[in-house]
Amino acid sequence: MYITGIGYYAPERVMTNEELSTLVDTSDEWIRSRTGIEVRRLAADDQSCSDLGAEAARRALRASGTEPGEITHIIACTASGDAVFPATACIVQHKLGIRRAMAFDLSAVCSGFLYGLQVARGLLAAEPEAKILLLGAEVLSRRVNWTDRSTCVLFGDGAGVAVLSARPDGKGPRALRARVEGVFCEGDGSGGDLLRCTGGASSHPYKQGEVVGPEYFIQMNGQEIFKHAVRSMSAVGLELMERLGHTLDDIDLVVPHQANMRIIQAVLARLGVPEEKAFTNLSKYGNTSAASVPIALAEALDQGVIRPGCRVLMTTFGSGLTWGAGVIYFE
Ligand code: ACO
Repeated sequence: MYITGIGYYAPERVMTNEELSTLVDTSDEWIRSRTGIEVRRLAADDQSCSDLGAEAARRALRASGTEPGEITHIIACTASGDAVFPATACIVQHKLGIRRAMAFDLSAVCSGFLYGLQVARGLLAAEPEAKILLLGAEVLSRRVNWTDRSTCVLFGDGAGVAVLSARPDGKGPRALRARVEGVFCEGDGSGGDLLRCTGGASSHPYKQGEVVGPEYFIQMNGQEIFKHAVRSMSAVGLELMERLGHTLDDIDLVVPHQANMRIIQAVLARLGVPEEKAFTNLSKYGNTSAASVPIALAEALDQGVIRPGCRVLMTTFGSGLTWGAGVIYFE
C-alpha cells in the first residue's frame, strides 16, 4: 500500500498557555515544562470535525493529484465527530462532492490513524483498485473540561489526511511514493476507565433537561496514562521492527504521537533512538489525537525532514486502551 498524498489543516485560532492561565490555575512555565506544549489551535465556533477533515482532505487530494470522484472509501478516525450519527466520514463525503464511496468512522482515539492504516491495508487487499481517503480529524476542544487544569492544557484541534492506493499512482506535483511496509496495532479494554468521555452515550444516556456533568468531558488518570503510553508506544514499535526484520539503524526518523514531550523522550530512550531522530510539533498544536501523526508527517515533508530514501517509524497510544506502530518507506 502506498500513501500518494498527504494534507493537513489546523484552524486559525491560536490559544496560548498565558490565555489558559486566565481560565484555570496554571502557568506557561508549568505547561511547557510538564508537556512541551506552547500553543494549540482551536476550531472556530462554526467549524465542526468534518469541516477540518474536508479541508485537509482537499489538500491531500491536490497533493496526490487524485480527483474526489476517484475515491472509493473514506475512513474518518475521530473521537470528536460531528454527530452520534451519521458518520463524520459520510458528512465529509458530501462536503467533497464524492458519491457512492463506502464511508465510515473508526474509533481508536489517539491511535486512530495507525488503526486506519491497517484497516486500509485490508481493504486494498480485498479491492486492489480502491483509492482510500484516511482522515485523522479532531475537535476535542468541544470535549475538554475548561475548568480541569490537568486535562484542558493538553489538547488541540486539527486534521491530517492521507490518500492511499495499492500502487504509487499519484499524479500531482506533490505526489508521494510512500510505501507502507507494515502496521501492527493492539488494544486492552481493561484500561478503558483511565481515559474516557462517556456522557450522552448509551452507558450514560442524556435525559432531556438534565444538567450536563463532568462525564460529558475528557476524564483522565494522567499518571497511569503516562506510564501505559511509554510502555506501549516503545514495545509496539520494537515488535513491528522485529516483524519487518529492521533494526533501529534502518530507521531515519521517528514520528511519535504528539501527546507530551516527556512521553516522547521516554519512548525514544526505550527505543534507543536519539532525540534528533524524532519529529515533534506538539509545541504548536498540543495533542490533536487521531490527527497528530498525519499532521506531523505532513509538516515533516513540508520542512524537508522527510526526503526520498527516508524510512519512518510511527508509534501511537490512546484511550481504549489502544496502541499501534507503522513503518513507511519514502521512495
Ligand atoms: N497547571 C498547574 N498545576 C497542575 C496542572 C496544570 N495545568 N495540572 C496538574 N497540576 C498539578 C496537580 O494538581 C498536582 O498538584 P498537587 O501536587 O498539589 O496535587 C501537580 O500538578 C502534579 O500533578 P501530576 O498529575 O503528578 O503531574 P504530572 O507531572 O504527572 O503531569 C500530566 C500531569 C501532564 C497530565 C501528565 O500526567 C501527562 O502528560 N500524562 C499523560 C496524559 C496524556 O498525554 N493524555 C493524552 C491522551 S493519551 C495520549 O495521547 C497518550
